[in-house]
Amino acid sequence: MIIKTAEFITSSSDYKQCPSEEHLEYAFIGRSNVGKSSLINMLTQHKKLAKISSAPGKTQLINHFLINENWYLVDLPGYGYAKVSKNKREKFSKLNKDYILKREQLMLLFVLIDIRLEPQKIDLEFMEWLGEKRIPFTMLFTKADKLSSSKINKNKIAYQKKMLERWEIMPPYFVTSAVDKRGREEVLNYIDQLNEAKE
Ligand code: GTP
Ligand code: MG
Repeated sequence: MIIKTAEFITSSSDYKQCPSEEHLEYAFIGRSNVGKSSLINMLTQHKKLAKISSAPGKTQLINHFLINENWYLVDLPGYGYAKVSKNKREKFSKLNKDYILKREQLMLLFVLIDIRLEPQKIDLEFMEWLGEKRIPFTMLFTKADKLSSSKINKNKIAYQKKMLERWEIMPPYFVTSAVDKRGREEVLNYIDQLNEAKE
């Protein structure tokens, strides 16, 4: 898929404030600092579309970006950052959960996972919650530029093994990097196919 246009539309502090257009949308979620905003910029080839920070907790609202005047990419606040106050964490968690459960236009969630780390409890629990709620999701491993290909393989296998303790099959996944752009074509084509299937 070719990205012709990508524009920031709005930030919402509640799913009810999200844009009313009926475009399909794809949302990015994952731990704070995992690289959600960076990946959105990589996919759209806009350096500053979504705001990035080395300090976790940067994205605090639901951000809608309109792509090719036809579908939305959605940047969600990260979960699980200890240094954000408990109060704020609960607010983000409610914001995300309401959005995930109630947003009818949501076509698919991309759950971002840092490929460098061993499977994290918070991610496993979040994906289990999605499973219980029957929310379709695809995993995106991030920051692959930071590891050798053998280490990527090793960590991927470890993740698969962990997932298969709870899941009958491994959910679909892609390996990505916002730095070297790996995974870009695959993820965009995947979205393209889902868009077409809905048309
Ligand atoms: P919050 O909005 O705080 O939830 O974080 P986020 O998930 O949106 O992460 P963000 O995109 O702001 O990136 C966090 C940090 O990781 C930044 O310093 C990025 O430059 C870095 N980063 C993100 N993606 C990659 C990647 O693919 N490779 C490398 N090497 N660094 C990355
Ligand atoms: Mg962000």
